[in-house]
Amino acid sequence: MVNIYSLVLRIVLLVVPFSEFSDIFDLDHFKKVLENDVRIVSSLPSTHLMTRPVEEKHVPVNMAPQWIRSHYMRKMRREGVLLLRGLDSRLSKDLPSDLQKLRCKVAFHALRLAPPIFELGNKLTERMRSKGPYLALHLRMEKDVWVRTGCLPGLSPEFDEMIINERKQRPELLTSRSNRTFHERKLAGLCPLNAMEVARLLKALGAPQNARIYWAGGNPLGGKDALQPLIREFPQFYNKEDLALPEELEPFTNKASVMAAIDYIVSENSNVFMPSHGGNMGRTLQGHRAYAGHKKTITPNKRQMLPHFLNSSLSETEFNKIIMDLHQESMGQPELRTSKAGRDVTKYPIPECMCNISIRQKE
Ligand SMILES: *[C@@H]1O[C@H](CO)[C@@H](O)[C@H](O)[C@H]1NC(C)=O
Ligand SMILES: *[C@@H]1O[C@H](CO)[C@@H](O)[C@H](O)[C@H]1NC(C)=O
Ligand SMILES: *[C@@H]1O[C@H](CO)[C@@H](O)[C@H](O)[C@H]1NC(C)=O
Repeated sequence: MVNIYSLVLRIVLLVVPFSEFSDIFDLDHFKKVLENDVRIVSSLPSTHLMTRPVEEKHVPVNMAPQWIRSHYMRKMRREGVLLLRGLDSRLSKDLPSDLQKLRCKVAFHALRLAPPIFELGNKLTERMRSKGPYLALHLRMEKDVWVRTGCLPGLSPEFDEMIINERKQRPELLTSRSNRTFHERKLAGLCPLNAMEVARLLKALGAPQNARIYWAGGNPLGGKDALQPLIREFPQFYNKEDLALPEELEPFTNKASVMAAIDYIVSENSNVFMPSHGGNMGRTLQGHRAYAGHKKTITPNKRQMLPHFLNSSLSETEFNKIIMDLHQESMGQPELRTSKAGRDVTKYPIPECMCNISIRQKE
């Protein structure tokens, strides 16, 4: 009997080819942790290796597990195997409690990075930690991020022109609404923060000059110069290349997802984490940190803070106070999932994924 767990999970699992999966994740660990919840196989019997794609054009957003069951259960029983692509993002965020817990179990227990990545990530963590607490910063200043978001890097007119030209040549890359100007997009909070803005934000939030910062992310457009505002303000500013010996990183240099995985570990282990823009990595890190013991994540309130960045008549004291007030809440306890609809339990695992102490006390 195929149960709904495996139906829901298969959607998540089969989108990733297994060879790639085991490059990044510890497959044996994954199978072991989930062995009582769902059967995981690495290959299919040859009798099932045929493709008969069926286009599903009308998958509703926020679909309930019942929808999947009513549409696919009969086919699943008949065929034995179904490959469901792209449904994971359409699944409702409000699932029954057992499925929410299962999603947390997958995200925070079953998915563990493959041993070589895990070891290097932990080594770099130790190098950061050995001198005290540190903040991890996820910067999104790569060229393709500026192009895709339709935002300007704020470096020089030459770089702006480069981005504008690239966007004209490849309009299909744009992910945000295209009829807004660069400035409108920025004020709407749709742009990643640049180094100058992150430095001002951190300073306003009270980060001292000797704060130790690990920055995650790929090569920024403009190279090291683009990071100068942060380095000037916070000289103890490191990334994986600064912390690792060349031969430690060498096996992974051309594997972007492994490099991101190393960043993930060092960021997960940090005392405070701050993403400069949305994205899967920031989202999952926020959830993982909340789940692992209410570890702090500061989410920049871009839409509300940016007008103040542009107001040159504000004194530094006034500016700092405004910025501090805007972030008071996100500097405290992790937010609960219940306050707004459509929130994913892997970003907001509290309360559904936490132990229910009142139940435990009764037992
Ligand atoms: C941009 O497009 C949206 C929807 O397509 C529309 O509601 C909005 O008014 C447009 N804004 C401008 C400035 O044209
Ligand atoms: C800029 O800051 C000053 C001083 O607080 C304030 O009076 C003014 O309204 C602000 N301007 C804008 C456009 O927000
Ligand atoms: C914990 O369990 C109690 C008793 O069953 C229930 O009333 C309460 O809503 C539960 N709390 C959470 C956060 O699930």
